[in-house]
Amino acid sequence: MKKTDIDRICDLHIECFKGDFLPSLGKGFLKAIYEEVEFIYINSNGFIVGTQDSGKLFKRVIKKHFFRLLPQLIKRVILDSSLLKKVFETLLYSGTTKASTKVELLSIAVDKRHRKKGVGRRLVKLFEKDFKKKGFTDYKVTVKDKNLVANNFYKNLGFLYSYSFKLYNEKWNLYTKEIK
Ligand SMILES: CC(C)(COP(=O)(O)OP(=O)(O)OC[C@H]1O[C@@H](n2cnc3c(N)ncnc32)[C@H](O)[C@@H]1OP(=O)(O)O)[C@@H](O)C(=O)NCCC(=O)NCCS
Repeated sequence: MKKTDIDRICDLHIECFKGDFLPSLGKGFLKAIYEEVEFIYINSNGFIVGTQDSGKLFKRVIKKHFFRLLPQLIKRVILDSSLLKKVFETLLYSGTTKASTKVELLSIAVDKRHRKKGVGRRLVKLFEKDFKKKGFTDYKVTVKDKNLVANNFYKNLGFLYSYSFKLYNEKWNLYTKEIK
């Protein structure tokens, strides 16, 4: 993946997930994660990102980018101390999932001007093709309960609700999907 593509993905992520935890850490964090994920696609209208194991992914990010990210984290935490709790919650969450699979769709976003035209559905299909090649049989996704559009999107694409949990003081739903 080209650096300019990662840059575009980060910008779209920030635009589509305003106020969420990851964008609140700054673009540097997003870039570090997106440089390390194993599955990443972008087209002119959107992107999709996934990992084989988010616990291992976060460890990789910390190991490779620690000294670059630490000053940025300190700066952000001084401005908003609640971020530190969220960092720990994130690291803890990745190790405590009850789902049967570790393979995960981490995020998907479609440019606002191109939504509801089947772009998201196509991105998921591409993603699953790659998962299938790797021999994975199922994968999971977590989404905020209040994100009605995304919950509907996943249900419509054949994801099955598995369970709900609390993260960053919000209710999240976990879905799984069999890859056929
Ligand atoms: C969720 C998202 C990726 C969907 O992308 P999209 O390209 O608009 O979705 P598609 O056009 O492929 O729609 C597929 C299905 O999702 C559902 N869906 C999509 N948008 C919907 C909406 N606004 N309201 C209700 N259902 C919707 C529909 O069931 C649709 O099937 P249909 O066209 O047969 O009715 C997009 O809305 C987005 O980027 N949202 C912001 C980021 C986000 O919340 N990401 C998910 C959390 S990780």
